[in-house]
Amino acid sequence: MQSPVIDSAKLEAFAMRAIGDVTAGYTGVMVSLGSKLGLYRAMAGAGPLSAKEVAGRCGCAERYVREWLNSQAAGGYLVYHAGSDTYELSGEHALVLADEDSPCFIPHAWNVPAAMWADEHLAIDAFRSGDGVAWGEHDARMSCGVAAFYRNGYRASLVPQWLPALDGVVSQLEAGIEVADVGCGHGHSTLLMAQAFPNSHFSGFDTHAASIGAARAHAAAAGLSSNLAFSLARAVDYPGQRYGLICFFDTLHDLGDPVAAARHAADALAPDGTVLLVEPFAHDRIEQNLSPVGQLYYAGSSVMCCAHAISEGGKLVLGAQAGPKRLEEVFFRAGFTRFRCVAETPFNRIFEVRR
Ligand SMILES: C[S@@+](CC[C@H](N)C(=O)[O-])C[C@H]1O[C@@H](n2cnc3c(N)ncnc32)[C@H](O)[C@@H]1O
Repeated sequence: MQSPVIDSAKLEAFAMRAIGDVTAGYTGVMVSLGSKLGLYRAMAGAGPLSAKEVAGRCGCAERYVREWLNSQAAGGYLVYHAGSDTYELSGEHALVLADEDSPCFIPHAWNVPAAMWADEHLAIDAFRSGDGVAWGEHDARMSCGVAAFYRNGYRASLVPQWLPALDGVVSQLEAGIEVADVGCGHGHSTLLMAQAFPNSHFSGFDTHAASIGAARAHAAAAGLSSNLAFSLARAVDYPGQRYGLICFFDTLHDLGDPVAAARHAADALAPDGTVLLVEPFAHDRIEQNLSPVGQLYYAGSSVMCCAHAISEGGKLVLGAQAGPKRLEEVFFRAGFTRFRCVAETPFNRIFEVRR
């Protein structure tokens, strides 16, 4: 066998990039600590602070906080002012790191890779055996991280942009219709819609008991009970008929039989009803998805989405980068005839589906 000719510049460039990825893993732990200990919140809007001042504001030990601050300054998360030996969190970075309600708040997202590491043994077994791993088998940080990651995007876009992009749906919601949120997870999407449209009734369905429990707790905390309910039910046979709107938020591609779920939606929909399909942003061809967003989704899909679909029998394992053509095919096979993309964000594509 011929030994390959090594281009040392390419080697160095790729090794440095791979080290950068390892550094990102370290950074995730620092971000999680900064968020859980309230370090970012203590710095948001405060201007330059010394390590002692940051530590004092959070009730933490100064020596640990100083080292954390230096790691954050080295990574460009904070600015270090050498003259005054102080650290500053800019307004833009505070939106990403300190403001839970900002659409670009990131810290909760680090729960997902934390769970992926904790569950690595499950993935190793699954890759070797070909067996599935159900959503509920994962470390609890998985469902919490996914729910929190999408929640802020839903807050920013669902009611102001995505629902108005669907033909006539907002006026139906205002008048009062039945709505199903299939695979509702922690129920953030269901809650947002129930708050915005008090005349409509919202049913969140999911097969994961812990997620239904979390959804009910979120509804109780928001003081909402009259127009929404969360129940354990499968995408292929949840109860109810004549839904004016059936939603799949980041769920269709996780199902073991998405065509059967689309068929059930066709049966459960009112004659003038609409399906709202929210899926991870993807193009149709692999070579079009070779981007940082594709990198994130293909990785998550390897251990979560494909693994769950396989655990449900895996009749059609779409994966998180299915792309519009394959999604459309699922609904056309189920008897729908109209499928169009109505909105997109860097992380999601939003489709309207009708009979
Ligand atoms: C990626 S999570 C999305 C959760 C939520 N819709 C969101 O956007 O945050 C996928 C959800 O689908 C649920 N799920 C998986 N298979 C299901 C099935 N066959 N029927 C109903 N829900 C299912 C999982 O339990 C999980 O809560």
